[in-house]
Amino acid sequence: MSNRNQRTKDSLHLSSITQQRPEQVPSSIHPPVRPWRDPVRLTDVSCRRAESSLTRVLSEPGVPRQLNLSSGQIKMPRDNKTPLIQKIAKQAYVTFQEPKSSANVADKQSELISLVTAVRAADLKIAPRKSKGSAGAAGLQNPPVTYMHICETEVFSMGVFLLRSGASIPLHDHPDMNGMIKVLYGKVNVHCFDKLENHLTVNSVPPHFDPPLDPLQMASVWRSIRRSVEEYTENSGPCLLTPLKDNLHRVDAVGGPAAFLDILAPPYNQDDGRDCHYYQILQTVAERETDGKSGEEQGEEKEKEDEAWLLEVPQPEDFWCGGEPYPGPAVSV
Ligand SMILES: [Fe+2]
Repeated sequence: MSNRNQRTKDSLHLSSITQQRPEQVPSSIHPPVRPWRDPVRLTDVSCRRAESSLTRVLSEPGVPRQLNLSSGQIKMPRDNKTPLIQKIAKQAYVTFQEPKSSANVADKQSELISLVTAVRAADLKIAPRKSKGSAGAAGLQNPPVTYMHICETEVFSMGVFLLRSGASIPLHDHPDMNGMIKVLYGKVNVHCFDKLENHLTVNSVPPHFDPPLDPLQMASVWRSIRRSVEEYTENSGPCLLTPLKDNLHRVDAVGGPAAFLDILAPPYNQDDGRDCHYYQILQTVAERETDGKSGEEQGEEKEKEDEAWLLEVPQPEDFWCGGEPYPGPAVSV
């Protein structure tokens, strides 16, 4: 780990996936994006404001009074007036507020998953988008992915990613974070990985890569396990990630545009060691040779098929994320 820590951030310039390219998203066209790492929203002031907002929401007329904030057990109001996205925000707050010390965290997560499973694009006043033909040079300048910011506290962030047809969010991590993805329209494939130890921290000998890496790149290589590739639609439940399981993923829009609700807890925060890192899957010489072998010979390599070697890389040039306004019900947390 020490070698990794000694590397300068400047050499990698790793940035959050919500970072936009200002020159690509003129402010006259798009409203300012509220990135996850907006420092104004990550202060103690915002935390206190979040707590007071939660209290205020729960005290509004029409909200049942049996809510018990002091016990930490908040029952969802049984009214149909509170927008579903507001209920999700409240439940995300109580679920992730103190996840490690809470005795009934499983119940809270179950309630949150139930609420998130029910959400649809219409609940957020988002109209599913259609595939468009080639937009020529103008299309190339449009961001492949846009983000609608819904809310953020120190506990969690929530927003919507909208992917153009064929767009991908490259393989990236969520350090020490929990997360949920819920498709709102379209179809996405989610490729999940678990990062294992950096090869330099153990006595394992890394394989030979094809093409070979230079010595400096070798310091940024991670061994990992391919967890799964699954398809999600609006009828699917959420795709979950935790600090240790399915923490790295790549999200591909399949068969047309797609959008998904994204909840992260806690939010990305570079100052708190939760920056977003991108990864490239490396091919080994052995894998290349396996491609030319018979099925029987390939079977001998099967035990290694779940292993993947990842190279930490800067944000890919062909990926950037623009911003657009969130049209749904206001959320107060
Ligand atoms: Fe992600």
